[in-house]
Amino acid sequence: MRTGTVDRSISQFSVRLPQRDDASTRSYPIYIGQGVLSMIAPAVSERGLPKRIVIVSDEHTASLYGDRVHAGFVNFGFRADRIELPAGERNKTPDTVRSIYDKLHALRAGRDSLLVAVGGGVIGDITGYAAATYLRGIPYVQVPTSLLAQVDSSVGGKVGVNLPYGKNLIGAFYQPACVFIDVGTLSTLPGRELRSGLAEVVKYGAILDAALFDLLERDFDGLLHPDLHLYPDIVKRCCELKASVVAKDEHEAGLREILNFGHTVGHAIEASTGYATYTHGEAITYGMIAETYLSVTERSLPADEAGRIIRLLDRLGPAPFRNDIGIDTMYQAMFGDKKVRSGNIRFSLLTGIGACTFGHTPGEEAIKNSLRQLVSHVKEQ
Ligand code: NAD
Ligand code: GLY
Repeated sequence: MRTGTVDRSISQFSVRLPQRDDASTRSYPIYIGQGVLSMIAPAVSERGLPKRIVIVSDEHTASLYGDRVHAGFVNFGFRADRIELPAGERNKTPDTVRSIYDKLHALRAGRDSLLVAVGGGVIGDITGYAAATYLRGIPYVQVPTSLLAQVDSSVGGKVGVNLPYGKNLIGAFYQPACVFIDVGTLSTLPGRELRSGLAEVVKYGAILDAALFDLLERDFDGLLHPDLHLYPDIVKRCCELKASVVAKDEHEAGLREILNFGHTVGHAIEASTGYATYTHGEAITYGMIAETYLSVTERSLPADEAGRIIRLLDRLGPAPFRNDIGIDTMYQAMFGDKKVRSGNIRFSLLTGIGACTFGHTPGEEAIKNSLRQLVSHVKEQ
């Protein structure tokens, strides 16, 4: 098998998870680089994972990358079947998971099966949830092909689906057996999806890594018109940051909430618009703008640092914001957030670039004021 030590274009590191009561070691590898798709079958074989494979992809990623992953397994002597789902956030539903169960049953896939998620965050989250629940749990691996999935959703084991009134309200913490990140797949990613993924990259800089934030300010134009050479290091850095948080708080008992900066407002925008108007990355871009304003009033984030964050987010150039959602609608939708405790909406807020704290419960007027600031900021553009 080609690994970081053999092929310098592919790096590898492990996500180490908190020990369980039985003190067993739990970890899984992430492979990152160009050409990672071709090492999936040998790596799965070497790690002793099941040889009965079911590849799950969507209508875009099936032909772009699913075929190649499938051929890799077949050439390696595995039995590999395929499930193709409709693309898009609107299909991240319990009904789609049910369709996976039905297909797995029709294929007679047993507990000796391995699900392989080839696609963006929607495919990863749905497939992971199907793996967590089918026959009380079968293993799965992540093969993220969107930037957003490479830097965020494929790592950390949050899997699930949406309900009409709230994002990711059904789900589990269920870690993958391996993550295979081929940055070459970014070459086919539409520009809108690339920008959505960059929003999560900005999030990592804003909450955890001032040096990454500086680098993004400097190299942003190259990232937008994608200079793929810039991506392996950035994707790796984001995965390391995420792994370091998940290692301390796998089940979001506290610290992991910082990864939700921008998401309290962002998820409310997605739910209020039926998951059809904005990509996840666009919604959390707006969410980060509102929550940056909130950080100034609630956490004394210095105005000049808030300005830098908002200017960088503006450079993503997301789709025009629909001002007709309404402040009250967005505010009410926040009560559908998973983080609500005792009726209080919780936020992760910044004290500086690279510094984030969690568990803040601002009052209604402060929250609505940050939404008004968001709306007037996007109107001014
Ligand atoms: P997505 O899966 O809908 O992918 C976006 C679009 O890009 C889709 O049409 C897809 O088919 C297409 N695509 C993917 N890779 C491609 C490629 N290489 N070339 C061409 N087209 C490609 O959306 P996403 O932005 O990848 O993920 C968003 C989802 O991730 C949301 O549901 C969000 O809630 C979830 N998420 C989960 C976590 C987590 O920790 N589990 C973290 C962040 C986000
Ligand atoms: N994207 C948030 C998390 O994984 O915790």
